[in-house]
Order: sequence, then C-alpha cells, then structure tokens
Amino acid sequence: MNTSDIAVSGPQQPLASLAERGWSRHSSEGTDAGTIVRELGRLGDRLGSRVQGRAGALEEVVQPRAADDAHPRSLSRRYGLGALPFHTELSHRTRPCRYLLLGCIDPGSPAAATMLLDWRTLGFSREELDLLEDTPILVRSGRRSFYSTILSPGGAFLRYDPGCLEAFDERGRQALRVVVDRIAGAPAQAHHWRQGDILIIDNWRVLHGRTPSDRGSGRRLARILIDG
Ligand SMILES: [Fe+2]
Repeated sequence: MNTSDIAVSGPQQPLASLAERGWSRHSSEGTDAGTIVRELGRLGDRLGSRVQGRAGALEEVVQPRAADDAHPRSLSRRYGLGALPFHTELSHRTRPCRYLLLGCIDPGSPAAATMLLDWRTLGFSREELDLLEDTPILVRSGRRSFYSTILSPGGAFLRYDPGCLEAFDERGRQALRVVVDRIAGAPAQAHHWRQGDILIIDNWRVLHGRTPSDRGSGRRLARILIDG
C-alpha cells in the first residue's frame, strides 16, 4: 500500500475541506478527554444528529483491542491488534452513519495511524460501479442481518466492511473482489495522531482503517457518529 502523510489544514477552513476531500482536521482547545469529547460534540452538532455506536452509546472511547477482548462482531474480533482493514463505519446498519468524528485523547506508544481512502479515487469502471450497485450481498448483523448492495442506489455511499459483508453467489464474490483489489493498490493517506487532534470523516465517501497496534499502547480515541 502506498501512503502519504496528511497535510495539516488551517483551523479557519475546516468544514470546507470536509466537503472538498471528504475529511478535515481540527485541533481541540484542550487536550484532556472531557474537552476533546465536548469539542467533538460541538463539531458533530453542526453536521447533524448523533447516532449510537455498536455498544449503544452516543459518545465512545475506542482503543485497540485484542481479538479475545473485542465485540463479537467487530473487526477487532477478527483482526485484533493487527492492521484494521479499510471499512465504512456502521456498515451493518441499513444506512451507515454519514460522519465519523474521532478525537485523540492519547496517540499511544507505539502510536497507530488512522488510514483514509476516498472510494471515488479507486477508479471503478462504469461496469464495476453497476456490479457494486446491482449485486445483492448479505450484511451480517446477527438476527438483524439483511441483504443489500456494496454501492447504494445512485452511489451516495459505499458499504464496505470485510467483517460483516458476505457474498452468497459468484457475482457477489466478484463484487467483493473488485473492491478488495482496488483497495490493495490504492494510494491511501495516513493520519498520525497527536493529542487533541480531531478528524471529521465523511463516512459515505472516505473509508478508514488503522495500522497495527500493540497491547497496552495506551492509544485512546474519542468517537462520535453523526447522521447528516
Ligand atoms: Fe471504524
């Protein structure tokens, strides 16, 4: 995977860069957890309404988890402290949340980077887009599992998460393969966290992942999810 570091954007043009490239970077006024969470809420409230995360909370603090310590259906359950593959947050919901806000309480040591990738830069052909939009796949979410497509009708969002998407026929396998292959060859961007950093990610447009982490690194990110 080719990576390039993310350039710092000025605090004066935060939401403009979100619209332009699908993510924006901000700095919290303070670096304590309470201030960072408040700042996330303030930014999130400008974008839409909060949605509950997997555990049912409106504000969460996430940290790298070993597989045996993770939510049964989370990516960490499968990948543990290894690299977390690119995914769309809340892919297991019928409509994934529009925005994902992350704030760095502690970058951890060793630190793990958050990886970002705009799916529209993956160079899908018209035929591939049709395949992604038309091919039913199974979205596993326990008793709430359902059928959907990787690309939403009209292409508003890309639903991709190797932890919950499952093909049930050859066409579905082909659709998933197209995405996996394109992601593998894509020039992703790495965000290296500093305490107090905040990222707003347009979850309909930009996939995110994480570089490998370590048990006990101390990495902690505050997270809120927003429906736009
Ligand atoms: Fe995620």
